This record gives sequence, structure tokens and C-alpha cells, in this order.
Amino acid sequence: METGKDQSIVPAAVRAMTEEDYDQVFHLWKTIKGFGIRSMDDSREGIIRFLRRNPTTSMVAESEGELVGAVLCGHDGRRGCFYHVCVREDFRQQGIGKAMAVSAMRALQKEQINKVCLIAFKKNEVGNSFWKSVGWTFREDLNYYDFVLNDANITTFQ
Ligand SMILES: CC(C)(COP(=O)(O)OP(=O)(O)OC[C@H]1O[C@@H](n2cnc3c(N)ncnc32)[C@H](O)[C@@H]1OP(=O)(O)O)[C@@H](O)C(=O)NCCC(=O)NCCS
Repeated sequence: METGKDQSIVPAAVRAMTEEDYDQVFHLWKTIKGFGIRSMDDSREGIIRFLRRNPTTSMVAESEGELVGAVLCGHDGRRGCFYHVCVREDFRQQGIGKAMAVSAMRALQKEQINKVCLIAFKKNEVGNSFWKSVGWTFREDLNYYDFVLNDANITTFQ
């Protein structure tokens, strides 16, 4: 994805996510089919903790006072990571997803982060098409590993 050029006009204003956005962002997540919402990580406390560690890199898209898109984005000092990238269904395919992703990537660049990654479910055709069309590299040479550290962090799929 080219982050250096100005983006074309999109029907929503992109800005950094704040703690006060939590209720609207959570409401938006609940409308996104296929999203896995985690009981601890995605709770108000979990998101506030995330935003305090990463105050500049998560984005929302706002149209007439309503949040119509959101990207959670943070980094560990070396690599950036995107989570829960979404646009409200009636606002899709108008450039909002790309505009939010570019804003988050520019914010990472300002923090001297040189690489960003994300996880997409294989069955998420729209999500995978989106990332490929905006220039992200699909890594066929990697396996993804994780380890659950807290069984109380339950995932509920929408
Ligand atoms: C993925 C998502 C965020 C894209 O948001 P969006 O605002 O509709 O995307 P944009 O309008 O910015 O599209 C950017 C590019 O992606 C492509 N794209 C978007 N939706 C697409 C679709 N349904 N099928 C194929 N390509 C698509 C567009 O063609 C566009 O490419 P272009 O620059 O050549 O025009 C949105 O569809 C969504 O919220 N999906 C559900 C949640 C999800 O799957 N998130 C990703 C998790 S990995």
C-alpha cells in the first residue's frame, strides 16, 4: 500500500481512536459478521489498556457524528499489528477501510516502526481480497503459532 500519497476523498473523516470512542466502536464490532470478540481483550478495560500503550495508532472513521469504521493498531517497539479492521456495511467500498489503514500505517511510521502485520481467517474472502488489493503481501511461507495464556479470555463469534 502506498502511504506517501494523499488519499482520494472518502465519505468519512479518519482520526485517532480515543478511550471515549469505546462504546461506539464496540457497537460497530457487534454488527460485523465473522468477528471474534474477546471477553477480556475487547472489554472496555482491555481496550483502554491497549490505547494507553498505543495512543496514536488506532483509527476510527466518523460520518455525521457516527463511527462507521475502526482499526485497532499497536506496536511492541519493533512490529506493528492490526486487529478488528472494519467498516459499517452501508459505508463499504468507498475507500474508508483503505484510508483508515493508511492513517494507521503513517502513525506507525512516525513511531519508527518498519513493518506491520495482521491475521485474517482463510475463509474471510472479503478481508483477504481487501488486503491483497491494497498491496499487502500474503505470506505463504509462514505458519502462524499462538499459545493461550488465559482461558478466561473467551472469544464469541458474531
Ligand atoms: C475489509 C473491509 C474493512 C474493507 O473496507 P472498505 O471500506 O469496504 O474497503 P475500501 O473501500 O477501502 O477498499 C479498498 C480496496 O479493497 C477492495 N475491496 C473492498 N471490498 C472488497 C470486496 N468486497 N471484494 C473485493 N475487493 C474489495 C476494493 O476494490 C479497494 O481496492 P481499490 O483501491 O482497487 O478500489 C470491510 O469490507 C469490512 O469491514 N469487512 C468485514 C470485516 C473484515 O473482514 N475485516 C478484515 C479482517 S482481516
